[in-house]
Amino acid sequence: MSKTARAYTNIALIKYWGKKNQTLKLPYTNSLSLTLDRFYTDTKACVINNDQDIIYLNQTLLDQTLLDQTQSQRIRNYLDTIRQMYSFNEHFQIDTVNHVPTSAGFASSASGFAALAAAINETKQLNLDKKQLSILARNGSGSASRSIYGGFVEWIAGSDNETSFAQPIETESEIDLTILSVVINKNVKKISSTVGMENSVKSSPFYPNWVTLVASEIKEIKQAIAKKDVQKIGEIAEHNAMSMHALTLSANPSFTYFEPETIKILQIIHELRQKGILAYATIDAGPNVKIICTKESLKQVQKYIEEQLSNVTCVVANIGSGIQYI
Ligand code: DP6
Repeated sequence: MSKTARAYTNIALIKYWGKKNQTLKLPYTNSLSLTLDRFYTDTKACVINNDQDIIYLNQTLLDQTLLDQTQSQRIRNYLDTIRQMYSFNEHFQIDTVNHVPTSAGFASSASGFAALAAAINETKQLNLDKKQLSILARNGSGSASRSIYGGFVEWIAGSDNETSFAQPIETESEIDLTILSVVINKNVKKISSTVGMENSVKSSPFYPNWVTLVASEIKEIKQAIAKKDVQKIGEIAEHNAMSMHALTLSANPSFTYFEPETIKILQIIHELRQKGILAYATIDAGPNVKIICTKESLKQVQKYIEEQLSNVTCVVANIGSGIQYI
């Protein structure tokens, strides 16, 4: 019996936003993330005697609705890629369960494809090391390459399939950093990350500046991590996130992932900082805001957000671990 693979989501502090090779998912820049302990995906793969893969998501057979079909096609294509990469023909039954807080509603391709890569590695006994597993996960979704590891992780952009993989950033002792996830919108996003980044690369006049900016911010944030300087980490991460969202606003046609509540939370974070409370924002390809806090600032930040906004859900996440087999 093969084991279930568990992968946690990660939040990018320095974002991956743009591919130089769509098929291999090779990014233009390195990126750097933190793996979180609250949201994860459990996936089990079994070889079946069938000419198609059978995919269950949260105990429901996929392909029942149109939305399912897009999702399952992406998984089927990925399984085809794996079959090609490792030269075998078998098909699988995939059972995958997303563990996100009930109302949170952010399905994560990072934990999803990392868990799937690890589940196939397990059931086919491919014996991949973490680097190979990161490469395999990247072929499913770029950000999944980072969910192989716990803690702070850097994805090295590389120049081909073998040189583009994530690696952990060692920290000597614990760092006092907590993430408050503020969930605004439970709907599926209208513009996927894949499409959003492609449009930004193609049409934002600032894209070349982004590539230069990321190179320097990666260096700076690694220094801040080494010094365990949470304020500096927050400053750099917030600036990087705002710069990424500036690429969506400056794309042609322009688009944004922000909702009115997103802006409201950003304003609240500014107010909190004026009061001397440590809080910095980072935002992925959606309206939800993740707030970088310390243990000390967390309670005040959460209280303030919940007082000011009645229609949001707050979830506290700490630093999570890498791939597990259970
Ligand atoms: C904003 O990894 O979902 O979360 O490689 O096309 O599947 P694909 O994109 P994906 O993009 C993640 C974008 C981001 C930033 C990040 O996680 O680095």
